[in-house]
Amino acid sequence: MIIESILAGSVWIGAEYLKNGYGGNEKKKLDRIFRKSGLYIKYNGKEDTPKLLRVSRKESFIEYIYRIPEGLSFSDFEKKKQVIEDSLNSSKNTPEFSFSMIREFDLKGDYKKQIQSIIEPKSTLKEVYLSFDRVLKIKVFNEPLTDYLPYEKVPKCGDWEIPIGVTRTGFIKHSFDKIMHMVIAGTTRYGKSIFLKNVITTLLLNHPKRVSFILIDLKGGLTFQRFKDCPQVISIASNAEESLEVLEMVNNQIDEVMEFMKANGYENVQEAGIKNRCFIIVDEGAELSPNIEKDTDLKKIKGKCETILSRIARVSGALGYRLIYATQTPYSEILNHNIKQNCDAKLCFKLQSNKASEVVLGEGITDAAHLPFIKGRGVYITDRKHIVQTPMIENDYIERVVNNVINS
Ligand SMILES: Nc1ncnc2c1ncn2[C@@H]1O[C@H](COP(=O)(O)OP(=O)(O)OP(=O)(O)O)[C@@H](O)[C@H]1O
Ligand SMILES: [Mg+2]
Repeated sequence: MIIESILAGSVWIGAEYLKNGYGGNEKKKLDRIFRKSGLYIKYNGKEDTPKLLRVSRKESFIEYIYRIPEGLSFSDFEKKKQVIEDSLNSSKNTPEFSFSMIREFDLKGDYKKQIQSIIEPKSTLKEVYLSFDRVLKIKVFNEPLTDYLPYEKVPKCGDWEIPIGVTRTGFIKHSFDKIMHMVIAGTTRYGKSIFLKNVITTLLLNHPKRVSFILIDLKGGLTFQRFKDCPQVISIASNAEESLEVLEMVNNQIDEVMEFMKANGYENVQEAGIKNRCFIIVDEGAELSPNIEKDTDLKKIKGKCETILSRIARVSGALGYRLIYATQTPYSEILNHNIKQNCDAKLCFKLQSNKASEVVLGEGITDAAHLPFIKGRGVYITDRKHIVQTPMIENDYIERVVNNVINS
């Protein structure tokens, strides 16, 4: 009797599943969401909604391919991504069924529990990923993107590359040869300093003979302490006065390199065959912002620091200098316009408001405000945008690398 009801139940679930096709329930739900969120066009008394062209099921996601109605653009859908995702997650979903569930049924086990586990909706949080290639592609992932990526697991990085993190579709690396400067932003405790440690460690590992660092750590100089004995670290500044001193040194060096290049008719370090790169890394750039400084003397010092940093961002890339500027308070009066404009790569962890996200990432790009509350989860933007989980690097790993570098 019990066996019969199990089989009857299984057949019913299977039939429902087949009737709806892959993700049939989700398909209907997406149609509803489009309507309710205004993703359709009314014209001549008719309604034009996104037309589903194909559905395909992959191991970790279902992909829905739509034709976008005339009069709507991909960005209209992108703006509603959060609505789509939240709506898909808002109520319990129909159980995902597979025939392997019947095969795995243990006749000697607890029937009630097993049937329940087949029938009960799973509480996994779905994640939505939108892309456009003449058609709108909506991937609905059944599992969220990993919230922990150990540094040891990242793929090897090539010339002047550093790991940015894992995305839904692969692994992203940043090449400092291609894009020279980077801004990093994010609310406190979401991963800026850990990311900077990823960068320094990777560069130490890959270019111990060619990299040098000017580290400006305005949070008491603690973040970079582990690197202080590396010969590649020229200096660690931990207040405005020390920062100015070291930045003035860089400024003079830039003049000299520029003179050398001009005299020899070189356009950039690649052409000049100069293989060394100097990274100027600022952790908590807001501390160098003159605009929020009340003390007149400090304001002057910070003003000079800002001028040099902005010059570094504007002119020093071709000369072999790289700027990485991190801040937790990316308001327009703090994040200098020149620095922002000349840092073509941005990595932004969780931010508190749409406005803060727009200041860093650009007008209308509010993704950083809508990131989940996950440490190391960020938006990486160059000419494309990716949601990434950045690697987590542990201090004992850093210490091993530093010891190797010092003793080699
Ligand atoms: N990529 C990551 N993966 C997992 N956990 C992380 C990651 N990055 C940071 N964390 C966790 O978050 C903590 C805070 O990170 P971190 O010190 O980098 O924050 P922060 O953005 O620099 O903060 P603050 O602005 O206060 O300096 C770390 O100690 C670590 O436990
Ligand atoms: Mg920090």
